Amino acid sequence: MPPEDRSDHRPRRALITGAGGGIGAALAARLAADGWALALLGRRRGPVGQVAARCATETHVLEADVRDEDAVDRAVARLEAAWDALDAVVNNAGIAGFAGIGQAGAQSVREVLECNLLGAHLVARRCLGLLRRGREPVIVNVASTLAHVGLPGASAYCASKAGLLGWTRAAAVELAADGIRVVAVSPGPVRTPMLEGERGGESASADRLARLAARHPLGRVAEPADVADVIAFALSRGARFVTGTEITVDGGLTAGSPE
Ligand SMILES: NC(=O)c1ccc[n+]([C@@H]2O[C@H](COP(=O)([O-])OP(=O)(O)OC[C@H]3O[C@@H](n4cnc5c(N)ncnc54)[C@H](OP(=O)(O)O)[C@@H]3O)[C@@H](O)[C@H]2O)c1
Repeated sequence: MPPEDRSDHRPRRALITGAGGGIGAALAARLAADGWALALLGRRRGPVGQVAARCATETHVLEADVRDEDAVDRAVARLEAAWDALDAVVNNAGIAGFAGIGQAGAQSVREVLECNLLGAHLVARRCLGLLRRGREPVIVNVASTLAHVGLPGASAYCASKAGLLGWTRAAAVELAADGIRVVAVSPGPVRTPMLEGERGGESASADRLARLAARHPLGRVAEPADVADVIAFALSRGARFVTGTEITVDGGLTAGSPE
């Protein structure tokens, strides 16, 4: 084990899941620019390695499917060989798994719930020891406005994100005794591969993006950096009294209609 560094001078350390693209990659770029040391976890080493290569900071690449308890255990064990403490876990890995209720069999529903809800639990649970030794430790769960608003073909996804909000509240109350904050960040639609793959491959055409943008009071669809900046706030000292709740990043989409 490396010598323990509990000084206030070491960089803050975060583990980000689903870091190989979309919001996770934007968050890695933002936190690296802020001087955080990073552990980037994804189920495919290639994309995560490419994101890591662009981060001018200490970066560890971890390969694991968040649904697989043994794989998560092995990945965090590798991190423990380098780090004795962790200041933040961002449960960002997620899949949409769009399918109508009539089409969605047990396996497809299970995949969505296991990735978006169980995966967040498994990663947070395995990191608790490291977090308890961290500085002002925080868990951020990337939920969705679809935790509150129904979308056809997204029953499993909506259920997984509503479940993640329940998990966030319970974990915040339970882990406050350890000084660990737990916060959900809920984006509306964000321009990432997930949005492009929505509803079985309907591409995010210019027309569709324009229609979506028009439904946002702020007049556009979110970019990954819009969400990354809010997660960075949730991780910061500025949010030190925020726990057990949700921060929405949707340009006003769920507040009402522009007309
Ligand atoms: N985009 C939106 O409109 C939107 C809106 C609200 C909330 N969100 C949430 O934001 C988070 C990030 O989404 P995104 O839009 O950035 O999606 P994305 O571009 O598809 O990225 C998701 C990342 O998660 C990884 N991942 C998926 N399943 C995994 C698993 N089982 N284990 C480990 N990693 C896994 C993916 O890796 P692979 O490339 O290997 O699949 C990918 O790198 C998700 O939780 C999503 O639900 C997105």
